[in-house]
Amino acid sequence: MKKNSILLVLLLLAQLVSTAQNSNIKSSVKNVESKVDSILFMMTLEEKIGQLVQYNGSWDLTGPASEVGNKQKEEQLKKGLVGAMLNVLSVDATREAQKLVMENSRIKIPLMFGYDVIHGYKTIFPVPLGETASWDLEAMEKSARIAAVESVADGVNWTFSPMIDVSRDARWGRIMEGSGEDPYLTSLVAIAKVKGYQGDDLADSTTIAATAKHFAGYGFAEGGRDYNTVNIGENELHNMILPPFKAAANVGVATFMNSFNTIDGTPATGNKMLQRDILKGDWNWDGFVVSDWGSITEMIYHGFAKDKEQAAEIALKAGSDMDMEGGAYEAGLMDLVQEGKIDESLINEAVKRILRVKFKMGLFEDPYRYANPDLAKEISYEQHREVARDIAKKSIVLLKNENELLPIKPSVKNIAVIGPLADDKDSPIGNWRAQAEANSAVSVLEGIKAAAGDDVNITYAEGAKLGIGERSFLMPLKINETDRSGFSEAIEKAKNADLVLMALGEDAFQTGEGRSQAKIGLAGLQQELLQEIYKVNKNIVLVLINGRPMEITWAAEKMPAIVEAWQLGSESGHAIADVLFGKYNPSGKLPVSFPKAVGQEPLYYNQKSTGRPYSEEHVTFSTYTDVGKDPLYPFGYGLSYTTFEYGDLKLSSEEMNENGEITASISVTNSGDVEGKEVVQLYLQDLVASKARPVKELKGFKMIELAPGESKTVEFSIDEKMLEFYTANQKWEAEAGDFNVFIGGNSRDVKKAQFTLNK
Ligand code: NOJ
Repeated sequence: MKKNSILLVLLLLAQLVSTAQNSNIKSSVKNVESKVDSILFMMTLEEKIGQLVQYNGSWDLTGPASEVGNKQKEEQLKKGLVGAMLNVLSVDATREAQKLVMENSRIKIPLMFGYDVIHGYKTIFPVPLGETASWDLEAMEKSARIAAVESVADGVNWTFSPMIDVSRDARWGRIMEGSGEDPYLTSLVAIAKVKGYQGDDLADSTTIAATAKHFAGYGFAEGGRDYNTVNIGENELHNMILPPFKAAANVGVATFMNSFNTIDGTPATGNKMLQRDILKGDWNWDGFVVSDWGSITEMIYHGFAKDKEQAAEIALKAGSDMDMEGGAYEAGLMDLVQEGKIDESLINEAVKRILRVKFKMGLFEDPYRYANPDLAKEISYEQHREVARDIAKKSIVLLKNENELLPIKPSVKNIAVIGPLADDKDSPIGNWRAQAEANSAVSVLEGIKAAAGDDVNITYAEGAKLGIGERSFLMPLKINETDRSGFSEAIEKAKNADLVLMALGEDAFQTGEGRSQAKIGLAGLQQELLQEIYKVNKNIVLVLINGRPMEITWAAEKMPAIVEAWQLGSESGHAIADVLFGKYNPSGKLPVSFPKAVGQEPLYYNQKSTGRPYSEEHVTFSTYTDVGKDPLYPFGYGLSYTTFEYGDLKLSSEEMNENGEITASISVTNSGDVEGKEVVQLYLQDLVASKARPVKELKGFKMIELAPGESKTVEFSIDEKMLEFYTANQKWEAEAGDFNVFIGGNSRDVKKAQFTLNK
């Protein structure tokens, strides 16, 4: 091309970019596509590769830092060779970084600013596993909405959340970040979270882009050890792992993040079948895939790529669009194109995906729309904390309540609050705490003091420290195994109390990334402390503060009352007090099974039938001869201060025709003395199929509220779609035959009926 015509094209394109930046962002999809195309057209190969690069802001690292120093990063930003940043926080810092790009680069493509906003930004909500126990999707959407607003007020416009890895292994530290062991429930949470973060319009300056992560299989790490190998087949992948991701893709989640693990020998990051064939192909999803931190380069350590260049080649071909702090795309892609190993069209495709999201976010219209210094002033953090309290109390699960020890009776005048977590204002915030201030949660002790009447005497003793030394995101906690110096004070206080509240469980950083544990009981001296207290006072309410299912078999037998209070976030202590004093009647249900012994893990209700179902008369059956195969507390379990009685399960018909529908109904009665809420759960079982099917699968639930003595008939429609699974034909379809229907208040205690699907 002659010099003049080049100039002309450039002028034309520059005009196109500015039109793109100034036009109304609520333009049609076609418009976005043509804008994306026109920008792509004017980009050099170097600039295109730059869009595929994501840099860390150099602090708050969540993995080994890449070699690119700060100065060099700044230079790359100025040249427009960076697509996104992570961990750059505050309106000022994001504005500064954006300015580097907008005022210096040739092409002026705004940055996205990503951050791990997992369960709140400043106001912290329960850890996702805990929040899922509320089974309240509206509440979960609301907490995501609030997290989005608080994030934007600090310049962040992209969250690496929701984590929708189905997981069945309590040893896995990251089980706290997800929604537990059920793909249906996790799918609904995924939808709620994406809606909460992204709202109806990604360009709204109070919404942020969400990320469905980690794609895929990360929650199935062998032995529950983080980053470990995943060995699962097609059946498990499609039926258990992929549904939440498909749900997120369907509601338009802006981005996906791939995962660190290999899956059947192929690293997820280099997995074409997952990213290109399923996600972008079959599901026709149009967002972009960001790698996990350095996961492209980690393919070298998997023994799957010999160097960064090969890792880049594999990842891009497999459909990973953006390289998070791995340096592989930056190091390798240019040479790969020049050597003819990668077709530029693959890079174009990845860039288009990224530009598309940026357009939808309205960044071309106003690159600074998410760096609004006034937004923070408009936010009522106080109101956000009220919502946090409301969600926290709904997330609490009452596991045991012998002789109606709870709610605390007015006759109780002396309460001893004991345990290493009793006055811990930090652990309830949990891991992945974004920008919450350390020690900013309401402790159990504070909550109890605020809720108890003036005539109640409250004493406190720590008993024993759980950890020694500093808490750190990067270092494991050093557990106190020896210092019992606080025992005697705690025992003394317990002796003189009408009621003892023991707050035990896990430190904030005992769960989360890299926090897999082979032991999941009460760490350190907690169990011993509990036993010592029990010797002097049997009126104990065990309040568990933790991020994973724990092995609490001794406590489950001896304690009269147990409250699962997770890591409930900023308002933890108030929410716990609301439940303990009966201001709120607990309604939470476990989204994950609690084991009798860690050796039962992985443990999950939606297991397949074995050829040797359990029999009490023989040994040669599938169980554990010491503790059995059943959980301590099953999936879906949770008590209330009232009781619910279930009538018989009725079906509108025992036959379902092709594309037909039947109704399952059951009457539920509040048979206790107080008003209460119950999550009525529907499970199905396909009795004979082309692949072995789970013994039960959650397919619906309804939250009902009943006054004492009141009954309601709860109805569920069951249609053919609900009977579908990924069959031996390698597609989703329903197979004719018999199905069991179960309805109950948890996955174990259910009423049953049967119908036949005719096709
Ligand atoms: C690694 C984690 O696996 C991922 O979930 C997180 O989003 C990134 N680090 C960024 O912090």
